[in-house]
Amino acid sequence: MDLFSNFEEIDKASKRITELTALIDKYNYEYYMNDQSLVSDFEFDKMLRELQDLERQYPELASPNSPTKRVGGEVSKAFKQVKHRFPMLSLGNTYSIEEIEEFESRTRKLLGDISFSYTCELKYDGVAIGLTYRHGELVQAVTRGNGAVGDDITSNARTIATIPLRLRGSYPDDFEARGEVVFPFNEFESFNRQRQEDGDEPFANPRNAASGSLKLLDSSECAKRKLQFCMYFMMLPDNLELPTIDSQYATHFGRLEAAKQMGFKVQPYIKECRNIDEIRQFIDYWDNERWNLPFGIDGIVIKVNQVELWERLGLTAKSPRWAIAYKFKAQQVSTPLESVSFQVGRTGIITPVANMKPVWLGGTTVRRATLVNADFIEKMDIHEGDYLLVEKGGEIIPKVVGIDISKRNPNAPPIQYISNCPECGARLVRAEGEAGHYCPNQDGCPPQIVGRLEHFVSRKAMNIDSLGGERLDLLYRRGLVRDIADLYSLRREQLVGLEDYDELGQRKTSIQDKGADNIISAITKSKEVPFERVLFALGIRFVGEVGARKLAFHFKSIDSLMEASTEELAAVEDVGEKTAAVIYDYFREPRHRELIERLREAGLQFELSSDNAQQSNELGGKSFVVSGVFSRFSREEIKANIQQHGGKVVSSISGKTDYVLAGEKMGPEKLKKAEKMGIPIISEEDYLNMIETVH
Ligand code: IVH
Repeated sequence: MDLFSNFEEIDKASKRITELTALIDKYNYEYYMNDQSLVSDFEFDKMLRELQDLERQYPELASPNSPTKRVGGEVSKAFKQVKHRFPMLSLGNTYSIEEIEEFESRTRKLLGDISFSYTCELKYDGVAIGLTYRHGELVQAVTRGNGAVGDDITSNARTIATIPLRLRGSYPDDFEARGEVVFPFNEFESFNRQRQEDGDEPFANPRNAASGSLKLLDSSECAKRKLQFCMYFMMLPDNLELPTIDSQYATHFGRLEAAKQMGFKVQPYIKECRNIDEIRQFIDYWDNERWNLPFGIDGIVIKVNQVELWERLGLTAKSPRWAIAYKFKAQQVSTPLESVSFQVGRTGIITPVANMKPVWLGGTTVRRATLVNADFIEKMDIHEGDYLLVEKGGEIIPKVVGIDISKRNPNAPPIQYISNCPECGARLVRAEGEAGHYCPNQDGCPPQIVGRLEHFVSRKAMNIDSLGGERLDLLYRRGLVRDIADLYSLRREQLVGLEDYDELGQRKTSIQDKGADNIISAITKSKEVPFERVLFALGIRFVGEVGARKLAFHFKSIDSLMEASTEELAAVEDVGEKTAAVIYDYFREPRHRELIERLREAGLQFELSSDNAQQSNELGGKSFVVSGVFSRFSREEIKANIQQHGGKVVSSISGKTDYVLAGEKMGPEKLKKAEKMGIPIISEEDYLNMIETVH
């Protein structure tokens, strides 16, 4: 009877899973392909949650291509290397239109007297991947790698909304969809802004960011990045039976059309061209228009459209003879330098900036560009009023690449580098062997003080998110906050009504009743932030998020950390001698000690507290024996982590042990004992899956 009702239940769950999957797939498709929302976000989330719950309850019913995989969650230790079934070739490329003309006439000659066409399409500036589909299901996603072998990034690819997990309509039974993963400009910009707010290094361009994202070990992080997949090629094995109108698969254009029907995002900017004039027109059009696209391209790809001709044209050593890429030259203009200003960064680094006569370049007006450092100005030999050659390539940020000497006024003097800080007047320092100057006045130089405040409130530190850079700047200039400890004596009435305006008289920020309440409550709440994050928030040089965690777990309180010798500091995993010396010196400064006392009085956490850090009860009292070396945690950290998730740590294996958490180099004796007693041995990765929390 019991068994019977169980079957019934499973059957019911399975039907509901199928139903929810179909609905969510449909809503996703309409949303990402046709920009249509068929349900409210609330409804959508509710369905997704119901599906997640069912899959959790009945893991055997969960498909690897379930729409729940879009949010990621799989954490891998390293990527599996996979040999490509069909090598991923590159394309011959050129910057010269004459070479495109040669390609076209060579192709015509080789093919003789037959009728054929070309396709012209965009050359997406991202990361090439190949997606294998079998029976309409995505089974594997692999990066190009070296063309022969790439990384298996399937769980990250599943989080990309424009990669179909299951195909629609009719499709070949077995094929590979190739394309480029790009980071759309607007998403890239907001992502990079967030990184900077969190104190992380920004990415140089969308391509690097896309590539870094696909290599994330935690797929839920990748899911947050809003990447896009632009399909540009369908690779079919020989002798494969093709569905529907076979002739559609006879051309590249037709194959991409077919792919669109299957649910792939195929960019509409593809054109069938009959001759070199049409090709030239397509190139010229996109050379100008490319800046209006939502993502980056770095050229145009021209392919022979008729698939049967590919074999006749064959391959060269690395690339097919039936396709070629035209690469856009970086756009360049020359514009006069009006002045040089010197910016002081959060860490005191000085950056010289060229203020130029505004000029139109690659879709935006350029007014300013970095002059990098004193060496750069000297090497370029920049004089006052010089015409600067400014270039915009694949990057969004314009670069100064040279000077138009012919336009130099012979009397113009060379640019003089400053010797004092433009913000606080302190004498600048240039460390030996470093090209940049910096202002050493850490505690008296306004941008550095505000920079430290920004770091202190950032998400990974104290997470006081109602205070951004502009508000902090305002609080500093009004004399309300001079250092991080002052935040804790702010009163509501000091905040209400504060306003700030920019040079043009536009209001930049203002604080009203509700804003003031939010700020005060976020500051109060930050007193619960655990010690390891408080330590990170202090902004000690070289002490990042991970380092702070390791130090906190090692020393357990600020008092023992403050008293530690450089040797004791350097004994902590990942703390080198240089960092140890910096930490030691930091705590020898009386003003730093005083600051810490004020923060302690305000009620911040300066001791490791396991109660405070309890994050979940996912491990429900299970007991663990920990052995070996781990990649993401030190041994002490992983033990603390077990406790934080409601587990118990015991020192030796017995009948009561639930799991042995094995790192690398685990002792063979322990391993044998665990095996003998039949106690499950789990890896760090298994453990992370158990706690289902991102670290
Ligand atoms: S076709 C055999 N089409 O450019 C044909 N490639 O060297 C293979 N790329 O890394 C490539 N946009 O990832 C093709 N519309 C497009 C493309 C494209 C970007 C990339 C490709 C490869 C490189 C070619």
